[in-house]
Amino acid sequence: MIKKIAVVGSGTMGHGIAESFAMYGYDVNIYDIDDARLNAAIEEIREELELLSEEKFIEPHVIGAALQRIKTFTDLKKTVADRDYVIEVVPEELELKQRLFQELDGYSPPHAILSSNTSSLKLNDMTARLGDERKQRVMVNHWYNPAHLMPIVELSFFGNMPESIYAEVEQLYAGIRKQTVKVLKDVPGLVANRIQQGVAREAFSIIEQGIAAPEDVDKALKFGPAFRYATTGQLEVADFGGLDIWCIVGDNLLKVMDNSQSSNNLLRRKVKEGKLGIKTGEGFYKYRKEEIPEIRKKFMKKLINQLKASAFYV
Ligand SMILES: NC(=O)c1ccc[n+]([C@@H]2O[C@H](COP(=O)([O-])OP(=O)(O)OC[C@H]3O[C@@H](n4cnc5c(N)ncnc54)[C@H](O)[C@@H]3O)[C@@H](O)[C@H]2O)c1
Repeated sequence: MIKKIAVVGSGTMGHGIAESFAMYGYDVNIYDIDDARLNAAIEEIREELELLSEEKFIEPHVIGAALQRIKTFTDLKKTVADRDYVIEVVPEELELKQRLFQELDGYSPPHAILSSNTSSLKLNDMTARLGDERKQRVMVNHWYNPAHLMPIVELSFFGNMPESIYAEVEQLYAGIRKQTVKVLKDVPGLVANRIQQGVAREAFSIIEQGIAAPEDVDKALKFGPAFRYATTGQLEVADFGGLDIWCIVGDNLLKVMDNSQSSNNLLRRKVKEGKLGIKTGEGFYKYRKEEIPEIRKKFMKKLINQLKASAFYV
């Protein structure tokens, strides 16, 4: 049974992953390359836990208890030496991850299950330097941002591991209230990101063609399809509507919709102009610098409310 966790990398995703495990009672070691990054991660975790408490998602005493369960390290060997489960959350570079897995293999106990939060690298490539025994205990465990709020974690089941090891990890995630998605093939983007890119391609294209303003496109999504999607999946929606209707509408619409094989040109232009979204003050919308912290907080609060409501969805 998995009890002791290690999170390697404490950045955007790593700190939230460590927070999620600690919040639900797990003892977590976090590694990063220097103390400054680790201190920043702990501060972020504290702030996020405080917001969860303000919003009455957790009891106030959980903040201190969760923080006490997290230990920080700049020595990889010490981070993982006694761990049952290790997740790597370092930058998306194949060579870096290959090297890291080799080190983790050497430093972790033989029974430890190793995993990667990669968004786009192949499991087989990342584990190329490992022996057959260890390969049976390595998987992709892909979280969504912000990790402590988004309930989904995609788990690979690509044929390299026995069902019993998969079941152990599935159980671990059930214990921290995550919804796991079993992914059977090592395809880029797994499941959720592929669906998201399909929606984003059409949304960007609608803006590019001047069919509607950004506010209206977002409204159409939030109060149209996405309103249902939070409670009812696409395949359930299709069954409710009738597959005959979906077939006719698909034949009529898909031929006039965007089917490009690369990112939208308007998006590319904005990137060239330095309009990267909230981090530069402009993307599809404009943001005043002084209002950005409040906008970020509001985004988190909406997700917390959604998370509370989602307890009733499954
Ligand atoms: N950001 C997202 O929205 C998101 C979502 C899902 C998955 N991912 C994946 O998670 C992983 C991490 O992404 P992130 O956004 O948290 O990155 P990030 O740059 O915010 O954090 C990476 C952290 O790893 C640390 N690190 C630890 N060991 C390192 C080493 N040996 N060399 C370099 N850095 C080291 C860095 O110092 C940094 O703190 C990537 O594989 C990414 O594809 C990211």
